[in-house]
Amino acid sequence: MALEVRDVAYSYGERVALDGVSFEITPGVLTGLLGPNGAGKTTLMRIMLGVLTPDRGEVRLHSAPVDRAARQRWGYMPQERGLYPGMLVGEQVVYFGRLHGLPRAEATTRARALLAELGLSERWEQRTDKLSGGLQQRLQLATALVHEPEVIVLDEPFAGLDPVAVAELSDSLRDRARAGCTVLFSRHQLDLVQNLCEDILMVNEGRVVLRGPLVSLRAASTGVQLRVNVHAPDRQWLDRFPGTTVVSEEADEVRIAIPPGTDPLTVLDGARAAGHVDDFGLDLPSLSQLFLESVGPVGPVGPVAAVDPVAAADGRTP
Ligand SMILES: Nc1ncnc2c1ncn2[C@@H]1O[C@H](COP(=O)(O)OP(=O)(O)OP(=O)(O)O)[C@@H](O)[C@H]1O
Ligand SMILES: [Mg+2]
Repeated sequence: MALEVRDVAYSYGERVALDGVSFEITPGVLTGLLGPNGAGKTTLMRIMLGVLTPDRGEVRLHSAPVDRAARQRWGYMPQERGLYPGMLVGEQVVYFGRLHGLPRAEATTRARALLAELGLSERWEQRTDKLSGGLQQRLQLATALVHEPEVIVLDEPFAGLDPVAVAELSDSLRDRARAGCTVLFSRHQLDLVQNLCEDILMVNEGRVVLRGPLVSLRAASTGVQLRVNVHAPDRQWLDRFPGTTVVSEEADEVRIAIPPGTDPLTVLDGARAAGHVDDFGLDLPSLSQLFLESVGPVGPVGPVAAVDPVAAADGRTP
């Protein structure tokens, strides 16, 4: 069952941070909460975790309002990290396990497994403040996951990690999602996560501007381009595809923008009918392009309305 946020609004005094945010997160699907600095990601996560009480709206899990006891079982990594600098690494993870109600022996077993998974096995006896920034980051993650939470909410977990650690962390988050956990992570640098998230929830100025499966959102975007290198006498073969526009041409290579819903393979067939095709490629829009498309002149209503996240989920059931 999905985790659901319904019409949540929150203001810090006069400043509106969230202005009617609604979405569902499907267990099993790694979901990225994306948006620029100040968009409202941290505020939203704090509300989901019950750290802040919304001015309006609610958070539901398994179709019921979430209470304190349920949230106790969630895993949360706040953006402002909170480790005890003087504690030993292993002790720290065991301590957080105990806070979540695990018996000491079990907390210790899980801490060892998790620190091994995160490449920190050798650091058990080291003081936390002697770890590098990136290693403290991994330790922080271990403290959020030690009680094997069903719902995992991570605020900027990739900040400060090297590319190998980013890849490892994304694998481990994807594995947890596959195992049935509900996993939401935030990121302000959109293009660094475009290969990680499956579903995206994009926010800007306290509102959802785009949401749904990334694959469908990309395919439905106006930013899909094809590169075709075809030995043809002219470009007349393109006339068969209304709505396509030539973006650039160089020798035999033509780059075309195709309207949403056009099957690129039919365009390839058209090119092959016109001449020998040396090269053919599909360029999907980046997350930044999707973001600009959704907040640009079209306005936030356009893309959200254009892609129904439920229909786009393509039969995926929560
Ligand atoms: N404690 C606070 N008091 C007043 N305003 C705040 C406070 N915390 C956040 N805000 C404001 O609320 C808005 C949303 O902030 P939030 O921290 O949720 O954004 P964010 O998407 O997490 O940004 P970032 O990518 O920088 O972490 C911003 O305009 C911010 O300035
Ligand atoms: Mg934040």
